[in-house]
Amino acid sequence: MLTQEQITEQNTRLQNSEPRDILREVFSLIPNTVLSFSGAEDVILIDMATKILPELPVFTLDTGRLHQETYRFIEKVRTYYDVNIDMLQPDTEQLRKFVKQKGLFSFYKDGHEECCSIRKVEPLRKKLRHYDAWITGQRRDQTPSRAEVAIIELDRGFSNNGHQVVKINPLANWSSEQVWSAIQMFNIPYNELHDRGYVSIGCEPCTRAIKPTEHERAGRWWWEDATIKECGLHPKNIAGEVRRNNEEHDTESS
Ligand code: ADX
Ligand code: SF4
Repeated sequence: MLTQEQITEQNTRLQNSEPRDILREVFSLIPNTVLSFSGAEDVILIDMATKILPELPVFTLDTGRLHQETYRFIEKVRTYYDVNIDMLQPDTEQLRKFVKQKGLFSFYKDGHEECCSIRKVEPLRKKLRHYDAWITGQRRDQTPSRAEVAIIELDRGFSNNGHQVVKINPLANWSSEQVWSAIQMFNIPYNELHDRGYVSIGCEPCTRAIKPTEHERAGRWWWEDATIKECGLHPKNIAGEVRRNNEEHDTESS
């Protein structure tokens, strides 16, 4: 188990490292690590990580609501990299009760939190009980709520008294342009939705294509507050964004 001080030290040390070097360091520092794959441009991490550690465990939160294109893409990645992607489904009984009570599109009326909690957050929580760290494709340039994403951080949302979970964001410093030029340069397979104006890709009912002038995450939960586009997988970002908004509000009103 790493102390908070050691995590901070590692984060400072890795600040200017390339994603590949971050992955190498993390695999030796925390061997019991798992990679999360959303079925979008974070495929770049599968490409990098499987070259270093071919047996690395990988999972996708299969909400049951992903686009058919995303399912096809996940399958393509599975065969292309010969990687066993663990598809994590929500708890059947919890989901059945929720859908029976609220139907299949309740998020348009009362927000995405409850559905995301059942379909994404709880399956992730269960998975992370078996790992000491998880790797994500979060980048600082994706949205203001990710502006302070660390390279390596204690994941307080998924740690508890008996078990520490560390979150690694090797792409934190990379821009969207860097990700896409690497995908093109190395001929990495990508989700066909990206060719149809989709940039950030989540579940089908909660994702739309965006116009060239719109921000990367404008197509996610587009009917909700434009500033906080997070679903509970990355709770620290929500807290940070609320804090920043409050600070801005305080400055404006003083
Ligand atoms: S989300 O919180 O809004 O859904 P986003 O789609 O930007 O997140 O993805 C950021 C990172 O969260 C991904 O690179 C991946 O590491 C993780 N993630 C998001 N959705 C999934 C998913 N369905 N399965 C596995 N990991 C995911
Ligand atoms: Fe449900 Fe939409 Fe969240 Fe997917 S993104 S889990 S469909 S609310």
